[in-house]
Amino acid sequence: MQDKATLHLDGKSYQFDVFTGSENERCIDIQNLRAQTGYITMDPGFANTGSCYSDITYVEGSKGILRYRGYPIEEIATRATFVETAFLILYGELPTPEELKNFSARLKEHAPIHTNLEHHFSGFPTSAPPMAILSAMLNLVSCFHPEVLDVPTTGDEFDRTASLLLSKVRTIAAFAYRMAAGKPINHPNPNLTYCGNFLHMMFSDPYQEYEVSPIVDRALNLFLILHADHEQNCSTSTVRVVGSARANLFSSVAAGVCALWGPLHGGANAGVIAMLEDIHKSGRPAQYYIDRAKDKDDSFKLMGFGHRVYKNFDPRSIILKKQVDGLLRALNLDDDLLHIAMQLEEVTLKDEYFISRNLYPNVDFYSGLLLRAIGIPLNMYTVMFAIGRMPGWIANWQEMHEHNLRISRPRQIYTGKTARPFVPLAER
Ligand code: SDX
Repeated sequence: MQDKATLHLDGKSYQFDVFTGSENERCIDIQNLRAQTGYITMDPGFANTGSCYSDITYVEGSKGILRYRGYPIEEIATRATFVETAFLILYGELPTPEELKNFSARLKEHAPIHTNLEHHFSGFPTSAPPMAILSAMLNLVSCFHPEVLDVPTTGDEFDRTASLLLSKVRTIAAFAYRMAAGKPINHPNPNLTYCGNFLHMMFSDPYQEYEVSPIVDRALNLFLILHADHEQNCSTSTVRVVGSARANLFSSVAAGVCALWGPLHGGANAGVIAMLEDIHKSGRPAQYYIDRAKDKDDSFKLMGFGHRVYKNFDPRSIILKKQVDGLLRALNLDDDLLHIAMQLEEVTLKDEYFISRNLYPNVDFYSGLLLRAIGIPLNMYTVMFAIGRMPGWIANWQEMHEHNLRISRPRQIYTGKTARPFVPLAER
């Protein structure tokens, strides 16, 4: 394969380097395009534009491949815990028993939040969206840790900041839920697993300690593992853009939370359940929603369908569908919404509109049903996605600093008014 690309423009020829990645993905490096030609490229939504070279996650959208640091998601999802996965994504290798013990100890150490921080939760209206609280509190936590406000990208400082964020994001999420529900907060219990501790903080009551069942603990681990990283998606790119200005890790991930909140991104998992509940309550056939999704005059999209990269199945959706079915059986639960979801998927698989546009269920289509089976409230679904994605955000932020990337500052093509003289007020 050639290692140069030639561009013929205005009677001249220009050469640019071609780079081939470890999975034979190829790019034309155009870092000198404007200096050489005076032209820029235009790619709204960046569907054809790479922002970085990365060693963290590989996605091959036409084959439904997803690997974290080279390990297939199917193996990680069934054989690792979320804490092991977070370590892998952060440090590049699966932890040894000793590394896992030390990493887990750091997560336990950082689970509590400063008592002064607790008061801030009562300042939010009970109707406050938990994603707004999460983003605000992540920034607020940094005020209590001035020692990590600088840009620690390596060594003990980075390890500490990463563990602190991975651990406290859980505590903040659970406290936000409890305060909004008017329930007393549960402080973290260091004797529980990462997921068990979260479930305890969410659901224990003064008179009844929440009993973490191994099935539910496993299901929540799986959910978080499947959300742990996903290349340069909207929220991870946001973390990189904010971090490229040398903003600290707390403010960078807080920005990532805001991007993830969008209904086309992490907000879709709650959108799927709302759609399925609407189908269930309205008694309208699934076809009604499919027809709306196909109608160009209707802004409605079939939530949980489609993906910028996966033009075949999303491997995470395959794993989740199986897991939800198994979890409901194990908990002796039935959920009409699962049957509706499967029916929707079945109809779309035969529908030309979806087939021709490669629209398949994505990670959000079945993930909400798993959270529903565990008892997570609907307004916390995207917060759960943020807890899962925290390792990916942190690892991408660190990799950007390791590669010493320049500040992100895209160009534009101006299409507004050309130069014109100022008009005094009296003449307007
Ligand atoms: C996540 O990037 C990541 O990796 C994200 C993520 C991660 O792990 O970080 O995987 C997590 O965000 C998953 C996506 C969750 N969002 C949704 O489920 C919302 C519904 N999906 C769509 O909004 C859409 O599919 C996107 C946002 C996911 C992808 O948008 P694209 O790549 O810009 O695709 P597009 O909007 O250009 O769609 C191409 C065509 C269009 O039709 P035409 O103009 O060609 O006629 O497909 C249609 C779209 O109208 N289309 C849909 C549709 N998704 C795309 N039509 C109906 N329903 C849908 N869901």
